[in-house]
Amino acid sequence: TLVSMKEMLEKAKANGYAVGQFNLNNLEYGQAILQAAEEEKSPVIIGVSEGAARYMGGYKVAVAMIKSLMEEYGTTVPVAIHLDHGSSFQECAKAIHAGFTSVMIDASAQPLEDNIAVTKKVVELAHLHGVSVEAELGRVGGQEDDLIVEDAEAMYAIPAECEQLVQETGVDCFAPALGSVHGPYKGEPNLGFDRMEEIMHLTGVPLVLHGGTGIPTKDIKRAISLGTAKINVNTENQIAQAKKVREVLAEQPELYDPRKYLGPSRDVIKETVIGKMREFGSSNKA
Ligand code: G3H
Ligand code: ZN
Repeated sequence: TLVSMKEMLEKAKANGYAVGQFNLNNLEYGQAILQAAEEEKSPVIIGVSEGAARYMGGYKVAVAMIKSLMEEYGTTVPVAIHLDHGSSFQECAKAIHAGFTSVMIDASAQPLEDNIAVTKKVVELAHLHGVSVEAELGRVGGQEDDLIVEDAEAMYAIPAECEQLVQETGVDCFAPALGSVHGPYKGEPNLGFDRMEEIMHLTGVPLVLHGGTGIPTKDIKRAISLGTAKINVNTENQIAQAKKVREVLAEQPELYDPRKYLGPSRDVIKETVIGKMREFGSSNKA
């Protein structure tokens, strides 16, 4: 069933596991993620970035694809369709009106006051429609679509500011940037666990970890123990898929039917997602 993130994240936080956000890049990702969730009896968040939405033909296309797949599959687990890194109130509003059940307003590049102001506006509209909202402070480094944050700009969220934003806006969950990076890591991630613990106590809402690709299991478990209830993964699925496509085309250079190489790559995405659901502890929690 299509739901907002609110209940699923509160339940995850209360029971010591995290729900994965897996990004939708095209049809095969939608199929793989929904199949994995149903097989694992796991709640799931399907993240759609603005770039991926443009690629697929817009927010309505993404919603229609997921809704139709859920109907076709007879999906029973909770599914949220979430705008990933929404860049403005207007984009969040468009996604909400297109049927998204959750939005992130990522105003982390703006001064705190501006971030709070726009986040309040998004929460007001979203909550009118029963849609959940995620916000961010600090800067997650790396590159996700057209969102590029240079190392120098990547910085840790400040606990007092996190408390202020969450209290003044009423967001349903919150992403403090604490050293994670979008895309492949250059070396081991160095997550700010002490700050995470402080922010968990100060904000009292489920926390979100962006840049889930490449974070060691021990860090995943520690983050969950410190209030992280949503973990975002995109690159790891993309790398796994690309590897499979290369293998299939290398083995059969004369191949040209897209279903013959996209099909096997879909199965690899599904397996990767299943592995993450088990690692995050969300399997059998639907
Ligand atoms: O919002 C999306 C995630 O933060 C993706 O991060 O591509 O490093 O797994 P990742
Ligand atoms: Zn992200």
